[in-house]
Amino acid sequence: MAEKKGVKVEKNYQTDVPFKTNGNFHVKGAANLDWGMKKRLANIFSPRGGNTLMFAFDHGSFMGSVSGLERLDILIPQLIDHFDVLMAARGALRTCVKPNFRKGIVLRVSAGASMLNEDLSREIISVNIEEAIRINADCMAVQVFIGARGQLLSINNLSSVINEGSKYSIPTLGVIDLGKDTEHSSQYFKLATRIVAELGANIVKTYYCDDFDEVVAACPVPVIVAERNKLDEKDALSMAYKSIQSGACGLDMGSNIFQCSNPVAMADAVGKIVHNKYSDAQAWEYFCDKIKKGGK
Ligand code: 5RP
Repeated sequence: MAEKKGVKVEKNYQTDVPFKTNGNFHVKGAANLDWGMKKRLANIFSPRGGNTLMFAFDHGSFMGSVSGLERLDILIPQLIDHFDVLMAARGALRTCVKPNFRKGIVLRVSAGASMLNEDLSREIISVNIEEAIRINADCMAVQVFIGARGQLLSINNLSSVINEGSKYSIPTLGVIDLGKDTEHSSQYFKLATRIVAELGANIVKTYYCDDFDEVVAACPVPVIVAERNKLDEKDALSMAYKSIQSGACGLDMGSNIFQCSNPVAMADAVGKIVHNKYSDAQAWEYFCDKIKKGGK
């Protein structure tokens, strides 16, 4: 973020001071929302600890059948009980998820990028509000590209989804991506998360970085973390732990689950960090133990 002439860049994030205006509702920044919004947010963030563990499998909608997601019809039933929320595109939900499941749904409503595009930052809104209502989505997810050529278009997408969602009390998740030449540092994640929250997103998804507690403190809605690349399991657990320690309200994990040799063990180990205050070392031990017992 450029320190423009006369504009002082604030450094006092008071990371030790809890968010002040939560009222009696457990989701950050949601105290003044109506009942329907709160009900859907409570389907995502556990009323007990306030956190969420989300399984992202929207990859096929821009990458095709990536490794680990070749057969959603086989994978999803194995994992469904191990997450709080599924995050996916409508075609994957309708074809591969039984409608009688009782977890939260985050429906991806923006699309347009594919592995064949040079510029992934230009998307359109592919799912309208009526369809989100028919699917009974708890939240609509829109990709937002800050510092990229498609920034204006994606902010237009985000704003229109928030405007439509507000009419029917369906929250919006802003999924942040920085332009490909933009440094993945707290400076730019602070810029992006704050823009998306101030434009009205109810949840922000971003990547972990140094000084992440400052990114979280400066964002008036819950921040959840995506890990982006497939990491070694120990490193993925460590990143999950650091994210929660820094104040993130959950993880949205994709490739570190479905490309793991034992996706259920990995999901449960991350769940221990998200919901049961496990350290990364304890979660790793739990994971190794589950593997030894054949994942049971
Ligand atoms: C892409 C997404 C992904 O769902 C998110 O990045 C999680 O997947 P992974 O853990 O594989 O990065 O939002 O836009």
